Amino acid sequence: MKTAITEMFGIEHPIIQGGMHYVGFAEMAAAVSNAGGLGIITGLTQGTPEKLANEIARCKDMTDKPFGVNITFLPSLTPPDYPGLVKVIIDAGVPVVETAGRNPAQVLPALKDAGIKVIHKCTSVRHSLKAQEIGCDAVSVDGFECGGHPGEDDIPNFILLPRAADELEIPFVSSGGMADGRSLVASIAMGAEGMNMGTRFIATKEAPVHENVKRAIIEASELDTRLVMRPLRNTERVMNNAAVERLLEKEKELGDALTIQDILPEVAGVYPSIMMEGDMDKGAWSCGMVAGLIDDIPTCQELIDRIMTQAEDIIRKRMGAMLDG
Ligand SMILES: Cc1cc2nc3c(=O)[nH]c(=O)nc-3n(C[C@H](O)[C@H](O)[C@H](O)COP(=O)(O)O)c2cc1C
Repeated sequence: MKTAITEMFGIEHPIIQGGMHYVGFAEMAAAVSNAGGLGIITGLTQGTPEKLANEIARCKDMTDKPFGVNITFLPSLTPPDYPGLVKVIIDAGVPVVETAGRNPAQVLPALKDAGIKVIHKCTSVRHSLKAQEIGCDAVSVDGFECGGHPGEDDIPNFILLPRAADELEIPFVSSGGMADGRSLVASIAMGAEGMNMGTRFIATKEAPVHENVKRAIIEASELDTRLVMRPLRNTERVMNNAAVERLLEKEKELGDALTIQDILPEVAGVYPSIMMEGDMDKGAWSCGMVAGLIDDIPTCQELIDRIMTQAEDIIRKRMGAMLDG
C-alpha cells in the first residue's frame, strides 16, 4: 500500500509505532521497522544524549530499515537536555523524529536543516494546523481514545480525523484506538495516509516489557481505562488498577485544590517497576481503550502482515463486492 506516508518515510507499510515511555527501546523500534513499519525509540526514556546515542546505535545493529526517535516535551522543573538529544539524533543520521507534548518549534530548525522528517503528534485540529504552519512534514492526529495524553478536548477519531482532513494540507496518520486492518481502512477512508499505534504494539513478542504488562492488556476490555490528572489539565488515559483508584479518590476528595504533589506516589517514576518488573499496581501507566480489541501476542511481523492482509481483503473483497453489486 503506497501512501504519502510510506513515500515520505521510505517504509513498506503505512504503520507507525508511537513513542512509548519504557517500551520504545531499540528492540521495539527495530522489530517494527524490520516488519516494514516505522519503529520509534522514545528519547526521554534514555534521558541523556549519551544514552540515546547508545540506544540508536543498538537499534542500527538490529535493523537496516528506517526508524525514528520520539522527543516528548513535558512540563518539568528540570527539563531534559533537548539540544543535546537533537544533536545525537542528527549526528546518528536518524531520518524521522516524532515530536509530542508541546509545540516543537524549539527543535524544528535544527532538525529541518539536517533534512530530518518531523511528524508532530497532537490531539486537535488547531494544534495540527500550528504544526503545519511552523514546518512539520506530517501530523499524527491522536483521538480521545488514545493511550497516554488525549488532551482536554475529548474529540474521538470519528470526528477528529475527517476534521483534520478538511483542514490540513500536509499528510497525517490516525492515532488512538488503532489495532487492525479495519482501523487502517477506516483511517484511510477518513483522510489519513496511515496509522500510528501504541497499546497494540506493547502486546507483541518483541516488546521489551514484562509479560504481566502484555497479559494485563489482553485481559482488559474497552471499559478498563480511566482518565487521570484532569484537574491538573494534564489528562492521561491509563489502565485501571489499585493505584489509579487511589489517585481518582484523591482527585474526588481534593477537587480544585489537587496539586501534582498529592499524586506523586501514583505517577512519579513508576514506569520502570511496571514495565520492567511487572509490578502492575505500582502506579498509573498509559493504555488505550483499544485494549478491548487486543487478545493475542503476535510478533510485529505477524501483526503487521495480518493488518495489511485484512486491509486488502476489506478494500478488494468487501468494499469491491459492494460496489460491484
Ligand atoms: C505505555 C505508553 C507510553 C506512552 N509514552 C509516550 C511518550 O513517552 N511520548 C509520546 O509522545 N507518546 C507516548 N504514548 C502515546 C503513544 O505514542 C500513542 O500516541 C498512543 O498510544 C496511541 O493510542 P493507542 O494506545 O490507542 O494506540 C504512550 C502510550 C503508551 C500506551
